[in-house]
Amino acid sequence: MAKKICLVTGANGAIGKAMVEEFKNENMIVIATDLYLKGLQKGESVFEYILDVTNDSLIDKFFDEINKKFTKIDVLVNCAGILRSKSFDELQVNEWNQTLSINLTGTFAVSQKVYQLMKKNKGGVIVNIASDAGEIGSTMSSADYAVSKAGVICLTKCIAREGAEFGIRSNVIAPGFIKSEMLEKFEEYWGMKKLKETVDSIPLRRMGCPEEVAKLASFLASENAQYITGATFDINGGSCMN
Ligand SMILES: NC(=O)c1ccc[n+]([C@@H]2O[C@H](COP(=O)([O-])OP(=O)(O)OC[C@H]3O[C@@H](n4cnc5c(N)ncnc54)[C@H](O)[C@@H]3O)[C@@H](O)[C@H]2O)c1
Repeated sequence: MAKKICLVTGANGAIGKAMVEEFKNENMIVIATDLYLKGLQKGESVFEYILDVTNDSLIDKFFDEINKKFTKIDVLVNCAGILRSKSFDELQVNEWNQTLSINLTGTFAVSQKVYQLMKKNKGGVIVNIASDAGEIGSTMSSADYAVSKAGVICLTKCIAREGAEFGIRSNVIAPGFIKSEMLEKFEEYWGMKKLKETVDSIPLRRMGCPEEVAKLASFLASENAQYITGATFDINGGSCMN
C-alpha cells in the first residue's frame, strides 16, 4: 500500500518537530516546512521545504512542486504561528495584522490548497493548532494572538462542515503551556516568577510536552478518529476546563 503523506507547517518549532517525528514513526512520508530549514529532521521519509505561510506566490510555487512530486496529501498539520504578549492598550495595528496574517490567514491559505488536493483524492485529515487563548481570551498572550486562535478554531469548523461530503475531516488542538521557545516570550514579558506561579497553578502542575500534542494529532489523523470532525481538543493539564 502506498505510504501516507503528511504536510507540517512550522515544522522547525517545538511542536512542529514533534509532529514530524511522530508521523515519521507512523511510517508516513513527511513534508516538513518552515521559514528556514535549519534544525528540521532529515531522513529517507522526511522532505524539507521553505514555506512562509504569508507569502502567496511562495505558497503557489510550493504547491505546484508538491503536486508534481507527491500527487496527494493525506494529513495536514498547521503548526506555523507566532506569539505576542502585550497589553491591549499598547498593541499596535501592524502587530495585530502580522499575527492575524501568520496565525489565521496563513492557516487558511495552506489549508485551502491542501483541501483542494484532498477533495480531488476523496479524503484527508486537517489538524490545526490553536490555543486555549482562542477559547477563553488572552490571559498571558495578547489579544491579537487570542483572536487569531479563535479564528483558527472557527476556520476548522468551517472546513469540517464543507469537507465532510468529500471525506475530509478537520479538527483543532488547543494547547495550554507546552515546553517551547515560544514560551520564552512569556518569560521575557512576565518574568520567570510569574511564569513559575502560573505553571504551579495548573492542576497537573507541569507544562505539557510537544510530543504529547503530537500524539493527540496522530490520533486525530488516524482511522480511530473517523467519526470526529469539527472538534476542539484541549491539552493543558487542566488549566482551562470548558
Ligand atoms: N508552546 C505553547 O505553549 C503553545 C501553546 C498553545 C498553542 N501553541 C501553538 O502551537 C503552534 C506551534 O508552536 P510552538 O510552541 O512549536 O512554537 P515555536 O515558536 O517553537 O514554533 C513556531 C514555528 O512557526 C514558524 N513560523 C513563524 N512564522 C511563520 C511563517 N510566516 N511561515 C511559516 N512558519 C512560520 C516558526 O519559524 C517556528 O518554527 C503555534 O501555532 C502556537 O501558537 C503553542
